[in-house]
Amino acid sequence: MADRTILILLGPPGAGKGTQARVLADRFGLVQLSTGDLLRAAVAAGTEAGRAAKAVMEAGGLVSDEIVLAILKDRMAEPDTARGIILDGFPRTAGQAAALDVLLAQKGEAVTAAISLEVDDAAMIGRISGRFTCAGCGEGYHDEFKRPASPGVCDKCGGTHFNRRADDNAETVAQRLKAYHAQTAPLIAHYEGLGVLEPVDAMQDIDKVAAAMGAIVARVAA
Ligand code: AP5
Repeated sequence: MADRTILILLGPPGAGKGTQARVLADRFGLVQLSTGDLLRAAVAAGTEAGRAAKAVMEAGGLVSDEIVLAILKDRMAEPDTARGIILDGFPRTAGQAAALDVLLAQKGEAVTAAISLEVDDAAMIGRISGRFTCAGCGEGYHDEFKRPASPGVCDKCGGTHFNRRADDNAETVAQRLKAYHAQTAPLIAHYEGLGVLEPVDAMQDIDKVAAAMGAIVARVAA
């Protein structure tokens, strides 16, 4: 898998990592790996990792590096990732970034680009509180910024059931923003040091952000 494209999406809760990861995955044939989604699946399945993660996620803190790495490592090695992966919500701590560097180096790989979605914190509460996703295919929507073309029907799969996340309340979002600034924002300097940082103005509308990110991936992808 030495020629895989390895993209990292960095940004606070609500920056648009999930929204843009899905667009890039479709356009470039990459696989979106969201540690948030993997952890929520573990919680729903009631696995040991899921039971350990549940309370931390509900409080807006960060799940231990050990659990996150165990969940992600196997998924990164699956055959459908041969063309490349988009890491959405990982790494989130210096320990995770160091572990990822080692894991990739062992396979002769390296991070292709770390795209940093730059936003104002104040706007993130509104983005998160209006968010909902299709229960069938996971497509993301927003009450104001991205409504389904036909109300109540998913544009992508035609599903009619939608979910809102348990951790999308003002109090938990404030904690998630705090965790981001304390533990994840410092990673921007790490990837700048590696020469792979690509900042994007993510306060623009969704299509403009997608165009800016698409141009970066078209330039750097293997
Ligand atoms: P996770 O699921 O990763 O959540 P997050 O980082 O808080 O990010 P979000 O999913 O809330 O935001 P997003 O940037 O994807 O925004 P979205 O595209 O949906 O993590 C959840 C929890 O799991 C963590 O708190 C932690 O406990 C745990 N966890 C996960 N990974 C971990 C790790 N590596 N280590 C430790 N713990 C971990 O967009 C938001 C809304 O805005 C949508 O409705 C969208 O339609 C809209 N929108 C998007 N872009 C725009 C735009 N440009 N303009 C207007 N609206 C927009």
